[in-house]
Amino acid sequence: MAIRSANLNVMMRAAEKAGRALVRDFGEVEQLQVMKKGPGDFVSNADRKAEDIIKRELQKARPDFGFLMEESGETAGADENNRFIVDPLDGTTNFLHGMPHWAVSIGLEQNGEVTTGVIYDPIKDEMFWAEKGQGAFLRDKRLRVSGRSQMHDSVFATGIPHIGIGGGPKGHALFMKRLHAVMGNSAGIRRWGTASLDLAYVAAGRYEGFWERGLHPWDVAAGWIIVKEAGGFVTDVAGRAYSLKSQDIVASNSGVQTAFCKTLRSADKE
Ligand code: IPD
Ligand code: CA
Repeated sequence: MAIRSANLNVMMRAAEKAGRALVRDFGEVEQLQVMKKGPGDFVSNADRKAEDIIKRELQKARPDFGFLMEESGETAGADENNRFIVDPLDGTTNFLHGMPHWAVSIGLEQNGEVTTGVIYDPIKDEMFWAEKGQGAFLRDKRLRVSGRSQMHDSVFATGIPHIGIGGGPKGHALFMKRLHAVMGNSAGIRRWGTASLDLAYVAAGRYEGFWERGLHPWDVAAGWIIVKEAGGFVTDVAGRAYSLKSQDIVASNSGVQTAFCKTLRSADKE
């Protein structure tokens, strides 16, 4: 059994508490879905409520730590070396449409490095977590990236940028070229709409790789350490080590990493 740090336990508790509130609200969304106005405002509220729960829980246990949160932005802490990076509801579009694939994502950055990550999918009750040097886990089960080494056997996930973001129409055109390149060199592509879970699934060996452009630190902080601790690679398209400032994220197992980045880069040249 892996030893869990006190910080990790605090993060897991916060994620579970927010997860319970979100599950209750998700039940309501399924009702609102059939109404003309739709559940839009209700979901924004659920999102903010979940963020408040997480902030309250984490602050109670770690009053000095700073925060970077999707809804409320940055809060400096008295302790400048520790910061929680939080997405209270990743996969908002899925949640809004009553699709049961979304998660709570909490990373802990210490001295500029993400050392601990928790991604909780409350619908499937899957708690993915990792700590630097301790490995990655799904609850108590150790996670390893998949062992496949051939692109044509491999399944990849991605995120489709909205034409208005991700670098505008130019970014969208680049995405289409990369998609085309990976389609011609893989067993299939998935777009499930929750970047944190995409990373967790790479760590769990469910698919071989994931790429997306223009994600925010709260989408990826926790997943980044979980993939690394599961023996995977997290880089940019050039194959350089990922940083929270990188435009692109490419996560994969070790078997296809080089070929995957090369396939993505081949599209950039077209
Ligand atoms: C989004 C999801 C999605 C990704 C988007 C993100 P949100 O986060 O992670 O998978 O493709 O780029 O913004 O808005 O649902 O928290
Ligand atoms: Ca997100």
